[in-house]
Amino acid sequence: MKKSLYLLLLLLIPLACVENTNKTDEKTEIANRAWWKEGVIYQIYPRSFKDSDGDGVGDLRGVIDKLDYIESLGVKMVWMNPFFESPMVDNGYDVSDYRAILPAFGSMEDFDELLAGLHQRGIKFVLDVVVNHSSDQHEWFKQSRSSRDNPYRDYYHWWPAEKGDPPYRYSLFDAEGNAWKYDSITDAYYLHYFAAEQPDLNWENPKVREEVYDIMKFWADKGVDGFRLDAFQFVSKDTTFPAWPKGYEKDFIKYVGMGPHLHSYLQEMNREVFSKYDVFSVSEGAGSTFEDAHLLVDADRNELDMAYHFETVDLVNSLEGYKLKELKEVFSRWDSAFAEKGWISIFLSNHDVSRIVSRFGNDTPEYRSPSAKLLTTFLLSMRGTPYTYYGDELGMTNIDFQSIEQYQDIAAINGYQKALSEGADMELHMQALNFLSRDNGRTPMQWDSTEHAGFSTATPWLPVNENYTEINVAAQDSDPNSVLNHFRAMTALRNNNQVLIYGDYEMLAPEHEQIYAYTRTLGEDQMLVLLNFSESTARMVLADGWRSAREVINNYTTLENDGTTVSLKPWQAVIMQP
Ligand code: GLC
Repeated sequence: MKKSLYLLLLLLIPLACVENTNKTDEKTEIANRAWWKEGVIYQIYPRSFKDSDGDGVGDLRGVIDKLDYIESLGVKMVWMNPFFESPMVDNGYDVSDYRAILPAFGSMEDFDELLAGLHQRGIKFVLDVVVNHSSDQHEWFKQSRSSRDNPYRDYYHWWPAEKGDPPYRYSLFDAEGNAWKYDSITDAYYLHYFAAEQPDLNWENPKVREEVYDIMKFWADKGVDGFRLDAFQFVSKDTTFPAWPKGYEKDFIKYVGMGPHLHSYLQEMNREVFSKYDVFSVSEGAGSTFEDAHLLVDADRNELDMAYHFETVDLVNSLEGYKLKELKEVFSRWDSAFAEKGWISIFLSNHDVSRIVSRFGNDTPEYRSPSAKLLTTFLLSMRGTPYTYYGDELGMTNIDFQSIEQYQDIAAINGYQKALSEGADMELHMQALNFLSRDNGRTPMQWDSTEHAGFSTATPWLPVNENYTEINVAAQDSDPNSVLNHFRAMTALRNNNQVLIYGDYEMLAPEHEQIYAYTRTLGEDQMLVLLNFSESTARMVLADGWRSAREVINNYTTLENDGTTVSLKPWQAVIMQP
């Protein structure tokens, strides 16, 4: 396609929003439609999005300042990581007051203004609810640890020292990997699956559950539209704490996840909270089998709305990266398991992993832009609700931290200590951290090419990536071929074509080693998605019906199509319509 035509197409796509381009709407009845299935979710890490008061830390007012930008993305929901009162040991995932805003993030008035501003723009808000654990500075825990007969004692899990050593439990963030911490005040151990400063709440105690539902109702009454339940698959525990086989942590979710009462708690939460409001719910983790995931989200079970599993994002968990065949297989398997019933989240990045373009694309100057666009094309054309992590719409990349002093994340710091004490190969450990650490995905948003990338007037809490002078919103906003404008074109395409939301998914050429190809079909509407996940040209023979198909989006200005075979350039992504 000629460059001028491509520009015209980009301009026309947003215009198409006004017009309804769906044949499907009139002709096909779509079963079980829901607003939370139809929009793209934009995830904001508030510490890193925009600092409005010059302290180097992002805040709610900063997000308010950027509401027009968020609207311009075409997203319909915003999920924001925790902004509650917290000692910030785990950047807000250690909450010390669930009804208060951390002053560094702003005030409740700021939150109300932010919520109203999103709603005025037709964007829903998803709250992060962190209730597998609280902070050790929460009043409940302060009380709980103060004496064995305190009324809050059973809000947490305690193991009295006179019973001997507690049965081994692995902690994800502990420098020794031990989830039991001895507390001399009452001569007992408390449980913490994450850091020692994040004691696990005792969900078997009905008072804890009531407290949580009250907190959720407090926020639902304010008008939040959805809940993301953090680490929720871990909440239910067998409080007899049976011994688990040695090495169980290799099968972590099987043992630690999906405890005995998880489903009844979710049904109770659904009755007490979800059913009373027009809200949607998703919990982090989906168990270890499809059956687990279905039990969590099938509509007739009245638990959650959407499964959020990790199999796709976990495809890259070492320096070796991933194989396209595996990626295709995993996405296709999850799609087929949810084709008739239930609904899933579609994502390859979040605040717990490194940057998508560095992990799943190619972040070298040559391929960064096409591969970032390809990944957007992919995620926004799959069945399920897509999640976009802030900065991914620009193709923000990993930062290059070399020494452990540069890392801020407790997981990185304690993980380093653990590796050291276990005598691990520290050079390899640092290489893996450089590629995979969560800090990679948390560097400040790159707004423009001024100092600190326009994120703050002060030195940011985590360094800005050096490439901000090139990768930033201001530069990409005015460039019709930018990663950002490709993202906008993709949200517009998805928002205006039900086939990309509800259409059946069928993978083509599963054995192809470079191209991921699939169709989406809804009634008479059909789209073909062709994605070259490689650095070399890739060819594919088109089936009859697709030979004269037109391109609806393309991350290059041309497409080589001789009527039988398409030739895709490195990281080329095209969607076609008959
Ligand atoms: C979840 C969050 C992660 C956090 C952990 C403990 O996995 O996504 O960021 O560190 O829970 O709350």
